[in-house]
Amino acid sequence: MTMKVWVHTLQFEAQNIISVELRPIPGQKLVPFQAGSHIDLHLPGNLIRSYSLANDSRETHRYLLGVLKEKSSRGGSVYVHEQLRVGMQLTISEPRNNFPLHEEAVHSVLIAGGIGITPILSMAKRLQALNKSFEILALGRSRNAFAFADDIAELKCHVHWHFDDVSNGPPNLYELLHARPPKSNSHYYACGPAAMLEAFETACQTLGYVNHHIERFAAVEVKAADDARQSFTVELRKSGKTFEVTHDTNLHQQLILLKINVPFSCEEGICGACETQVLEGTPDHRDMVLSSAEQASNRVMMVCVSGCKTERLVLNL
Ligand code: FES
Repeated sequence: MTMKVWVHTLQFEAQNIISVELRPIPGQKLVPFQAGSHIDLHLPGNLIRSYSLANDSRETHRYLLGVLKEKSSRGGSVYVHEQLRVGMQLTISEPRNNFPLHEEAVHSVLIAGGIGITPILSMAKRLQALNKSFEILALGRSRNAFAFADDIAELKCHVHWHFDDVSNGPPNLYELLHARPPKSNSHYYACGPAAMLEAFETACQTLGYVNHHIERFAAVEVKAADDARQSFTVELRKSGKTFEVTHDTNLHQQLILLKINVPFSCEEGICGACETQVLEGTPDHRDMVLSSAEQASNRVMMVCVSGCKTERLVLNL
């Protein structure tokens, strides 16, 4: 589902980062969201880009995003920085949450790398509202490039700051996590650059911290499984179409070619927008959204990146 909103405020937050405050158009309401959620912005040129919501999830009058102008931008963040203006209308998706808080946790450790602060800030506000124990590790290249630092400083929690330019290098995530062992039921969350998330996952696995969760902004390539098929038949049950995927094409390309209405966004298997119900067949899951249990159930798949292990795949499209 999509909706129209208008751009209420654009504000400088840090080097190359602006915040974008979106409000409902008169007479309409925003869909409520949970901390950790993101929305898709539909931008000119058929660009759809996902951004985490940074504000307090109790707020019903606005969505607040933080947008980093990416050096390797494919157009989305450059448009937001250079062409989006206050007063313009935007089409957005309803909020989706691939990074939910476990509110029952005894203690939560929230780790933000750079622009990864956006969902972390919303989660921290939620934990504070629930009067829960939590702390933040705020990691960045420099203070000038770290957004929402004042909002973090105002939270009633311990904050560990690390800036590479002050500390002469990146943080040692293993040491930081080792110093924060689980208190019976602790949960650990991280959002930030791929290298940081990799270090976080490795450290959690080494330390045996089972309750760890990540939110990705960029995909990691997941290779096809050994038993993935190069060719398979796809039946789209709702639209009554059947087509072949062969070695020189893929499911994603074929769905676009046939103009099947799938709300693609990241097209990298990280946002969850294209989740599709599987009616028959076994997908070769190559996304970073579904949990291992969800992938093993084979009831849904991310059709932007995934393939198939059986001769026939039937989708509820
Ligand atoms: S479009 Fe984002 S997971 Fe498929």
